Amino acid sequence: MFFKEAKERADYLRREIEYHNDLYYNKSAPLISDYEFDTLLKELQEIEKVFPELQSPDSPSQKVGSDRSAIFYQHPHKYPMLSLANVYSRNDLGEFDRRVKKRAGDDVRYVCELKLDGVSISLIYSRGQFLRALTRGDGEVGDDVSANVLTIPSVPVSIASEGIPGSFIVRGEIVMEKEPFRIMNEERVREGLQPFANRRNAASGTLKLHDSTIVALRPLECYLYSLLEEETGEDSHYSKREMLPEWGFKTDGNARLCSNIDEVFQYIDYWEKERDNLPFDIDGVVVKVDSLSHQALLGSTSRIPRWAIAYKYKAEQTASRLLSVTFQVGRTGAVTPVANLEPVKLSGTTVKRASLHNADQIALHDIHYNDTLFIEKGGEIIPKITGRDLSLRVEGSEPITFPDNCPECNTQLTRDEGVAGYYCSNNKGCPPQIRGRLDHFAGRKAMDIEGLGEETIGQLVARGMVKDIADLYSLSEDKLVLLDKMGVKSAENLVKSIKKSLSMPYHKVLFGLGIRGVGERTARIVATHFPDIDTLMEAKSEELSSIRDIGTVTASFIENFFQDSDNISVIERLKMHGINMSQQEEGKYRSAEGAVLKGKTIVITGKFEEFDRDEYKRIIEEELGGRVTGSVTGSTTFILAGDSPGPSKMEKATNMGIDIYSEERFLDSFYRSVQ
Ligand code: IVH
Repeated sequence: MFFKEAKERADYLRREIEYHNDLYYNKSAPLISDYEFDTLLKELQEIEKVFPELQSPDSPSQKVGSDRSAIFYQHPHKYPMLSLANVYSRNDLGEFDRRVKKRAGDDVRYVCELKLDGVSISLIYSRGQFLRALTRGDGEVGDDVSANVLTIPSVPVSIASEGIPGSFIVRGEIVMEKEPFRIMNEERVREGLQPFANRRNAASGTLKLHDSTIVALRPLECYLYSLLEEETGEDSHYSKREMLPEWGFKTDGNARLCSNIDEVFQYIDYWEKERDNLPFDIDGVVVKVDSLSHQALLGSTSRIPRWAIAYKYKAEQTASRLLSVTFQVGRTGAVTPVANLEPVKLSGTTVKRASLHNADQIALHDIHYNDTLFIEKGGEIIPKITGRDLSLRVEGSEPITFPDNCPECNTQLTRDEGVAGYYCSNNKGCPPQIRGRLDHFAGRKAMDIEGLGEETIGQLVARGMVKDIADLYSLSEDKLVLLDKMGVKSAENLVKSIKKSLSMPYHKVLFGLGIRGVGERTARIVATHFPDIDTLMEAKSEELSSIRDIGTVTASFIENFFQDSDNISVIERLKMHGINMSQQEEGKYRSAEGAVLKGKTIVITGKFEEFDRDEYKRIIEEELGGRVTGSVTGSTTFILAGDSPGPSKMEKATNMGIDIYSEERFLDSFYRSVQ
């Protein structure tokens, strides 16, 4: 390659790398896989090696990607937060082993750790107290995301263990685990919100939110993997890591100390097969030299340490042709584009569809009809489209454009400011929206109307027998028997279960109304603050958003809902039918008066019968004036323990002589039975 050509290529690669860095770190919407990114970076590094005159300190080959944002306060890192070199083959890992041994001698030991796929974080503690949490930023200076990190239950605010250094830094990864992510997404769909497509991006987007009350509702988890301090005199990274759980930090228990590179290979092979069974996503294994003096001897470049490397697993990828795009209309009128693909096998399943998320994503990916798309199964539930093969683009193919009108009812679509999606505003007349609302209302978590499934709802709406949820209560057996596949007995049973739903608790009715942003949890919170529907209907959004856990967006959704004349009429008709519209005499318990837990710190662990964990947190903090923390420390007053409590919390509490309250004892002590 000649110099001119090399310069042009290097300039191109730098631009591409900066662009993809921005998508990954700032927009949380990567377009290419890590492997493709590393290939670009490697090519640039090779060109810079051959033509040293092309090197410059601001080349992305010399810097870690930056996630610094203008909105957070920034702080310098005491020790730079470096990135890691990636390898994808045994050969390259063998090379690393040879380089390390050449410098540090043959008796090096390695620590293998899982490479969690999340966002890196640095936590700073001083005198046992949490001081701040910083993102990696550009490696030198990070964003202060303390308020958000403090919402994570497993991040301790204070540490009471003996012998902890006066100040120290712990580093790790913030992730969303698979199961809590699934539950959160289910809830989002029920609330009429867009589900998140990817766990890493959801974690990184959440960490950068400006409203930590919203962050507190999202299931972030923080796994720490390294301890930086200068007081213990400990030389082994592995031993330092082992101190972390003793101090109350969460670590991944699967790290191993290996005496040679063969043991490292075994670890890598084992986790490549087992990774699906982990509660979180990993994208590889990090191999670190264990001895800190060896680490110091090996040193670092400006970007990466020479004593550690990431062995990355390749995400399984395949390509398939885009046959068509379906624009699906949901209960709230949100329109979601779904790619229909030529069926193709990926990670053991046949993929036919993939989400295109929203109009912004389509534009960002520049997708045309008939394109051959790369699809990947990473942390996603639905396979992700990572790009398109431009060399296979059909000449003259049209870019995908969002329809102007609703594909179901032809109403012009609207786009709310700050919301990525398009909406059909015809919520009274658009069939999938009517069906979706009825389905939601009848669902198990709302009015639990047995026998009212999708098919029956479809028929009721198509025949004009039901237009809204209140109409359900006017249905009689003789009308219902007219439906296909509806016998006399089933019609009778359905009328019975519709009647039965009249006595469902008020918070379930509120949830069933399908107000945008109001899921089960929010409905309970709203019901506690507005114990009957009339006061709620009068509430202004400022009053609603002053309630902890209710954001301004949800507050205005609630206010708007109750200003709509059709909704008001539905509620009046529901009242006439005798549906439960107030909280009175509902439930078995009522909170004790006043802040009886003021000044008390409580740790909640396990599963409960009467209320869920979040509700207990809210009760303790909002009704009883106490404080809930995630870890057991000297300042814990008591533990509220349900079924299968965390064993380490219980052990610690027992050792420290901290009182343990069962759910029943808690309710007896702080709640009065009203029955
Ligand atoms: S060590 C100097 N260990 O991977 C050492 N990183 O690609 C730098 N990561 O920024 C990090 N799990 O966000 C290390 N067990 C682990 C890790 C890990 C995930 C992330 C971390 C880092 C990135 C580098």
